[in-house]
Amino acid sequence: MDIDKNARAKQKLQQPMCLWLTGLPAAGKSTISNALEKRLFAAGHHTYLLDGDDIRLGLNKDLGFSEADRNENIRRVSEVARLLVDAGLIVIVSFISPYRAQRDRARSLFEPAEFLEIFVDTPLRECERRDPKGLYAKARRGELKNFTGIDSPYEPPASPEVHLQTMLQSPDECVNRVQQVLARKLSLDNDCISR
Ligand code: ADX
Repeated sequence: MDIDKNARAKQKLQQPMCLWLTGLPAAGKSTISNALEKRLFAAGHHTYLLDGDDIRLGLNKDLGFSEADRNENIRRVSEVARLLVDAGLIVIVSFISPYRAQRDRARSLFEPAEFLEIFVDTPLRECERRDPKGLYAKARRGELKNFTGIDSPYEPPASPEVHLQTMLQSPDECVNRVQQVLARKLSLDNDCISR
């Protein structure tokens, strides 16, 4: 096809990216991804946010929380993110995405310059204390099976590009940190391109 990713990105004056947030339920992924999108949007970027709770109401409403369903959930959303990056967008993906292998598969769909893994690191006891939807309490009562952190595993990233610790950083500070890493990554890549 004649109109490719570079042409679309050039029209938007931006480097298409996939910013992938992973973490336990109630870790703060939605808060941070929302603030991050607002910041990028205000700076004139064309963004799109893919959020687990939202995608599970539509595209992935046939999927539950078994290991196989979670893998299919993340496979589909990775492919959607790839299409949106191909369209020239900066895509924020905000899913628990509990398995290392599924996040690595997602990464493999992108150029190295296009993918940032962002670990929203909040200790389980703090997530459980926050419990904004009451789901940890339900899981503890045995009313919700396969709940991440209780009776379903979460594998933390081994070497994420960004490691956010929400006990130590406010949402605004977390967004600043992502922006810093993004800026460094983009200027390094531009250097590579101009060489
Ligand atoms: S993922 O593990 O497949 O990546 P995803 O991010 O799409 O999960 O969905 C997580 C959301 O589903 C949570 O914010 C929570 O509201 C809801 N949810 C319902 N049941 C579960 C469960 N068993 N484990 C985790 N989240 C659940």
